[in-house]
Amino acid sequence: MIKLLSHLSYLEIAAPDVEASVRFYEEQVGLRVQSRANGKVYLRSWGDYYNYSLVIAQGPEPALNVMAWRTSSPEALDEAAKRVEDAGVTGEWIDAGHGHGRSYRFTGPWGHTMELFWEVEKYVAPEEFKSVFPDRPEKRTQHAVGPRQLDHVTVAASDVRAFTQWYRDVLGFRIMAYTTLDDYPVTVFGVITTNEKSHDLGVVLDSSDRPGRVNHFAFWVDSREELLQAADVLMERGTHIEYGPSIHGVGEQSFLYFRDPSGMRIEWNTGGYRNYVPDWEPGEWKPSTGSNNLYRNGAMPMSMTESFPPDPGKPTATEEGIVPGTEEAILNPYAVQGRG
Ligand SMILES: [Fe+2]
Repeated sequence: MIKLLSHLSYLEIAAPDVEASVRFYEEQVGLRVQSRANGKVYLRSWGDYYNYSLVIAQGPEPALNVMAWRTSSPEALDEAAKRVEDAGVTGEWIDAGHGHGRSYRFTGPWGHTMELFWEVEKYVAPEEFKSVFPDRPEKRTQHAVGPRQLDHVTVAASDVRAFTQWYRDVLGFRIMAYTTLDDYPVTVFGVITTNEKSHDLGVVLDSSDRPGRVNHFAFWVDSREELLQAADVLMERGTHIEYGPSIHGVGEQSFLYFRDPSGMRIEWNTGGYRNYVPDWEPGEWKPSTGSNNLYRNGAMPMSMTESFPPDPGKPTATEEGIVPGTEEAILNPYAVQGRG
C-alpha cells in the first residue's frame, strides 16, 4: 500500500456558545482567530503551516464534527477514497472551501466523520506576525505559553481493537499500543499513527449507544517546561486541571487535561518516543503497568471517561454539580463513574 495519509490537519468541533469557547481558546490556550465565515470561527496555533487547525461551529452539545487528514499526494487521496468505498463505506466528494480543495468526506463504521484532502492553502503570515526564521509560519506566540500545533485526537468507539484494525487495513495507520484492564479481558484504549509518534488518532472504549463520540483532542508544546507553565496559566485563571501534569506510559508523552467552556476536554502534550518501525507489534499495556501514568502513583479520575456528546442515559459530571478535575470529582469517583 502506498502511504495514504500524511498528518492530522484540523478538527471541527461543535460548541453551544461559540464566542465563549473562542474567548477561552484565545485567552487560556493561546490560539489566534484566523478567520470567520458562515458562523464558524477558524483558529490557528503559531506553528501551523496551513491557515487553521481548529474550527468551532455552533451546535447544541460539545462534539467532534470532522477530523481532517491531509493525504500524501493527489494519488493517495483517490486511493484512500477507493479503499474506504471498497470497505463498504460510502462517502462523498466535496469542495470543502475555506482554503481546502477537493475533499473526500465519509463517516467511519463507528460514526466518526473524517475528511481527506490534498489541496490546501499554505499559511502566509501578515507582516506583523512574520518570523525572522524561514521555517516558521509565524512568530512564536506572545502568550505565556501557546501550542505550536495540533497533535492528536482521541475518539470513543464500542470496539477498540476492531476500530484500530479497520483504520490500519483501510487507511494504513500503524497500531502502536493497547491498554487492557487488569481484571477483565476488555481493551479500553488503543493508539494508531500516521507518523513517528505513538498516535495522531487514539480510541477509548465507549459503552454508550451514541456513535461518533470524542474523548479529547491535544495540542503540542515543545517542552515539558511549557506544559507546566500552561498548567500555571490555567490554574491562575480559574480553570480546573482534570488530570496531570504527568507522563503516559503509552507513547511516553507528558500530558495535562482540562475542559473548555462547553465541557469539551483538551490536552496539552509533549515529548514521547519516536518510532519508525514499519512492522511494529502493538505494545500490550495494563493500567497496573502504567499505561496512563508512567509513575503508577495515582489513579485516573473517573471523569476522564466522559466523552462527547454526553451519554444521554447518564448525567454528566457538570450536571451533577461536580466540576471535573476538582477535589470532589477525584476523591469521589463514584459520583461521576460509569459514563461513556
Ligand atoms: Fe491524548
